[in-house]
Amino acid sequence: MKRKKITIIGSGNVGATCAHWAAAKELGDIVLIDVAEGVPQGKALDLMEAAPIEGFDCNISGTNDYADTKNSDLIIITAGIARKPGMSRDDLLSINAEIVSSCARLAAEYSPEAIIIVVTNPLDVMTQVAWKASGFPAQRVMGMAGVLDSARFRTFIALELGISFEDVSAFVLGGHGDDMVPLVKYSYAGGIPIDKLIPQERIDILVERTRKGGAEIVNYLKTGSAYYAPAASVIQMAEAILKDKKRILPVAAYLQGEYQQQDMYFGVPAIIGSKGIEKIIEVDLSDKERIELNKSIASVRSLSKIVGL
Ligand code: NAI
Ligand code: 2OP
Repeated sequence: MKRKKITIIGSGNVGATCAHWAAAKELGDIVLIDVAEGVPQGKALDLMEAAPIEGFDCNISGTNDYADTKNSDLIIITAGIARKPGMSRDDLLSINAEIVSSCARLAAEYSPEAIIIVVTNPLDVMTQVAWKASGFPAQRVMGMAGVLDSARFRTFIALELGISFEDVSAFVLGGHGDDMVPLVKYSYAGGIPIDKLIPQERIDILVERTRKGGAEIVNYLKTGSAYYAPAASVIQMAEAILKDKKRILPVAAYLQGEYQQQDMYFGVPAIIGSKGIEKIIEVDLSDKERIELNKSIASVRSLSKIVGL
């Protein structure tokens, strides 16, 4: 069987950690590309030299030239500027839009059949920027945020209950910002709805911590933002695509009538497989959740306007 080819654009913290998880899972050969000369080459070689120890068989290379990304099956865009303390995700908007647009255009030119996962913030808007620049069908362009936000919510629920992380499922709807909507009624511990196990005032605290999960890490790190859990989230999506797993994951998907929205990328649950986003799933929402969702939609739309989408 021919190995899959994965291109990771941006070999900073998230990009390099994606390469690490992808290699550990032997998802395919990996190309790291960055504008910084030497960085993707050095990180790729360093990671490949772990192969004899860890026992993975993947070729890992670094480059500054898109020709080396030719015929990739999957493109992961992490290029951009990371959040610094005091900086909101929204501050990153215009600079990252230019970066993401040029990366998506170049990558699509060399890999016209690929699927793109966008990571760069502000996520929902950057995914739409990448989709437009790539010229790909919307099904083949998606953004990563919901898997991460849900993983944070799951972590906090498991810590609260003192139980295995594995036994908690949860999901977070909406844009990747402070208005995201953690859905309590669709969150379970060992199959039991969490509101049967955790008092409402504690749930409210966990929800708020999830919404601010990115900022919590930035405040600790001071010089950058989270990357272990973000990269693990990307690679869960990558695995679903490359192995055609048909997983239901929350991703930023292009809405064409779903959730009563048109022409926008937004975080919703979807079936992810070898064709990309294979089906968007609509869930029932309470009036309160619908109001919260509309707030999140409005936030994403206001950013989209700034970059002329
Ligand atoms: P980083 O600063 O460590 O890495 C970014 C890399 O992009 C750098 O190596 C830089 O040289 C490179 N780069 C800049 N312009 C480029 C271009 N035109 N072409 C190729 N490479 C280019 O940042 P980090 O921590 O890896 O984060 C990357 C992005 O991911 C940020 O926008 C961050 O906010 C976002 N992020 C999004 C998450 C999400 O849930 N969607 C989670 C974590 C990070
Ligand atoms: C996060 O949520 C920075 O968006 C990034 O960690």
